[in-house]
Amino acid sequence: MRIEPLRREDAAAVVAAEDELTVRWLSGGHSTVAGTAEYILRLDRAAEQGRPKRAFGIRLDDRCVGTIDVDPEVADGLDPGDVNIAYGVAPWVRGRGVAVRAVELVCAVIRDRGLGTRAVIRADSRNPASSRVAEKAGFRLLRVVHSSTESQEDGRPVVLQVYGRDLPRG
Ligand SMILES: CC(C)(COP(=O)(O)OP(=O)(O)OC[C@H]1O[C@@H](n2cnc3c(N)ncnc32)[C@H](O)[C@@H]1OP(=O)(O)O)[C@@H](O)C(=O)NCCC(=O)NCCS
Repeated sequence: MRIEPLRREDAAAVVAAEDELTVRWLSGGHSTVAGTAEYILRLDRAAEQGRPKRAFGIRLDDRCVGTIDVDPEVADGLDPGDVNIAYGVAPWVRGRGVAVRAVELVCAVIRDRGLGTRAVIRADSRNPASSRVAEKAGFRLLRVVHSSTESQEDGRPVVLQVYGRDLPRG
């Protein structure tokens, strides 16, 4: 398994890997191939202009089976130097450690590129699978906060379990 920068050609695979859980916890809406290709293009353009967010395809046997992104600009619930990680994998590969391995690989990218000093995962308190991925990848629970940007269906703020893993350089 490896992670590689997400390419526009991955758009169809990203859409195929999406299910109701991906929509609920990651993308926030059903994706189309054209919309996903456009999103990847926007990310590339933003990166060219110096924005630090990076998205990777998770590749298993050369097939893109999910995505993982790192964004040092996410601030909700976080401290300066924190780099937020978000991920999703296709339903047919879940439960095999793919997400945990992808988190470990992306932590190495954050450390090697000096993107920040701590990797963080903000798991919605209603999403135990995401918390479990963080714990299995060696993150510890830092705090539980009310999101300042995301709301639940009833209007109350989302409760985020914030997990962190220090990434000292060198
Ligand atoms: C969360 C997600 C990425 C996990 O991917 P995965 O490759 O199955 O993860 P792993 O196999 O590495 O580890 C999953 C762990 O979560 C556990 N888990 C799965 N569903 C669970 C649930 N409903 N409650 C508690 N634990 C759960 C698994 O049992 C496993 O732990 P274990 O090895 O101790 O049994 C995947 O479920 C997904 O894509 N969900 C939709 C998107 C999402 O929630 N993203 C998180 C936003 S940051």
